[in-house]
Amino acid sequence: MAKVMVMDHPLIKHKIGIIRRTETGTKDFRQLISEIAMLMTYEATRDLELEDVEIETPICKTVVQQLGGKKLAIVPILRAGLGMVDGMLNMIPSARVGHIGLYRDPQTKLPVEYYCKLPEDCDKRAVFVVDPMLATGGSAIAAIQMIKNRGIKNIKFMCVIAAPEGLEAMKKAHPDIDIFIGALDEKLNDNSYIVPGLGDAGDRIFGTK
Ligand code: PRP
Ligand code: URA
Repeated sequence: MAKVMVMDHPLIKHKIGIIRRTETGTKDFRQLISEIAMLMTYEATRDLELEDVEIETPICKTVVQQLGGKKLAIVPILRAGLGMVDGMLNMIPSARVGHIGLYRDPQTKLPVEYYCKLPEDCDKRAVFVVDPMLATGGSAIAAIQMIKNRGIKNIKFMCVIAAPEGLEAMKKAHPDIDIFIGALDEKLNDNSYIVPGLGDAGDRIFGTK
């Protein structure tokens, strides 16, 4: 069974507390989502492989450690996942970025796919699929399936807020995927919005409502 990690870092908790507030405007919301993604990336990359390499300081030769495992790719689920990319790239500047276009049909609540463009060598990378919200789980489950269908196996999922319903659905659909969650909320409401949540992440990042 893959791991599920719910963040307990005070800075992450504090910043999530701010983005939940109705009065937090687009500029601050966007900035904070990016900062939260950066801090979560720091936590979620704790198990990256290191290798020894000999280097020369101005004083002498020595052995240091450098990242030695698979290279990384970040795949945001459009639109709201885009808000997490810059923060993640601050931590991993050399990561490649793919895009998956999905939206939740307002009536059926089911994900509708409209775009998929991944880095060419994605099958050789560890892929972080990112979206601020895991509600029913439909979007993330479909996005990960789209990636798996392209032969990619090393996949992790990162979200800022998850509903227990979405987490359970993800674990059932993709038991092999590590899941990193900023905050695990109470439940979904009748409209499949996360409670207490933060409302519509895409609208709040892009100021569309
Ligand atoms: C939101 C969110 C997730 C999805 C979560 O996107 O960013 O992708 O809903 O819901 P689910 O877990 O029930 O699938 P939305 O469909 O509103 O599209 P947008 O990012 O374009 O606003
Ligand atoms: N998508 C969002 O943006 N927010 C929710 O609470 C649920 C789905």
